Amino acid sequence: MDPRATLGLTVLFIVLLATAGCRKEEETPQGGGPTGPTPAFLNVPGWVIDSIGPPYQTPGNPLTVEGIALGRRLFHDPLLSDDQTISCATCHEQDHAFSDPRPFSIGTDGSVGRRNAMAIVNLAWDQHFFWDGRRHSLEQQAHDPVVDMAEMRNTWPVVVQRLQQDPTYVSMFMDAFGTETVDSILVVSAIAQFERTLVSFGSPFDRYRYGGDTLALTPAEKRGMDLFFRDAHCVDCHRDVTLADHGLRNNGLDLLPLDSGAYEYTGNPSDIGRFKVPTLRNIAVTGPYMHDSRFETLEEVVSFYANDVELNSPNLDQHMFPWMIGQVDLDPSEQADLVAFLHALTDPVFLTDPSFGAP
Ligand code: HEC
Ligand code: HEC
Repeated sequence: MDPRATLGLTVLFIVLLATAGCRKEEETPQGGGPTGPTPAFLNVPGWVIDSIGPPYQTPGNPLTVEGIALGRRLFHDPLLSDDQTISCATCHEQDHAFSDPRPFSIGTDGSVGRRNAMAIVNLAWDQHFFWDGRRHSLEQQAHDPVVDMAEMRNTWPVVVQRLQQDPTYVSMFMDAFGTETVDSILVVSAIAQFERTLVSFGSPFDRYRYGGDTLALTPAEKRGMDLFFRDAHCVDCHRDVTLADHGLRNNGLDLLPLDSGAYEYTGNPSDIGRFKVPTLRNIAVTGPYMHDSRFETLEEVVSFYANDVELNSPNLDQHMFPWMIGQVDLDPSEQADLVAFLHALTDPVFLTDPSFGAP
């Protein structure tokens, strides 16, 4: 690895530890200059690092102020799509925690995809991307939508040529990566850096559980939290502080899954019906729900877990055992409490932070 990159990483992690407790992204003055890009860091609460460690870094792509600024611009730029009408942000809207409120996203020619666009929240701690987990880094992931025929329908040579002809971009690539020669690897590297800054741990639940603010949750939300972490067994899969577990599991939606999930790329029958366990952070604003948007509301989701889990679904996850033995029994008022708790997972600062919006 480039020694400068190693240094950047070291600085990142030291600063991460030293600044535990604060939240806001540090602003460092722009401009790579002769000394190279400026190492950047995520200010992540100490209790997050204690629980799940520092965020992953792809070797050779450390966070820098200039890389993040470039990635942010690219994420919001329709130039990436063939007819220059759709950016990443078109399907990943900030006020919906970077998910798509439409059941299925619509590509540049009006073609409709078959899955809901997922939220982009705390993915710096993730190693499986897409509903079926088929990509293993944010860099790899960002390559796909540009050439997806139901999304941006473009080709990388066209994207690279457009960027290379834009003097602002050329100088931003110089500042971020020390070269004026744009290529697809640098484009996805910058986008991944920006996505890693999309960190959200500022909900009322966090203030209550980790900040000692006993008034942050209402009584109903507290009852819902107790159910979530105990009798309703939600935490068995929505497990760590990201409220995901970074695994691919079948939560029993269907007897015969129409979308076979992870099986599609592994070809392994034991993967039929397995999907990524999504984060529940900001879940109140990321509907509709599940990979195929089958539920419009959180009430419907909770009612599914209370009443409609398909116990004969192929490869039903072992964590659904409490359902198999009839242990999860949620009456209507408990279901309402669970829904109330899910609403307490919204981080309003994340949804409005101007540093994540279009530059
Ligand atoms: C036309 C709508 C559309 C556009 C444009 C789009 N996406 Fe997506 N995105 C989706 C859909 C749909 C999924 C889920 C697809 C799947 O699982 O098969 C997704 C999934 C993702 C994921 C996976 C999240 C996770 O938790 O695994 C990331 C990250 C992401 N997109 C980033 C991007 C970036 C970066 C761009 C721009 C280069 C982009 N998207 C452009 C619709 C879109
Ligand atoms: C076996 C592991 C497992 C358990 C236990 C579990 N979930 Fe899930 N959850 C998943 C998976 C996997 C998905 C995505 C399924 C899909 O789309 O195919 C999901 C999806 C969701 C979604 C929709 C997320 C989105 O972005 O669309 C919500 C909300 C949710 N679960 C809440 C809960 C609640 C509340 C409980 C407890 C009653 C619970 N889950 C228990 C694995 C689990």
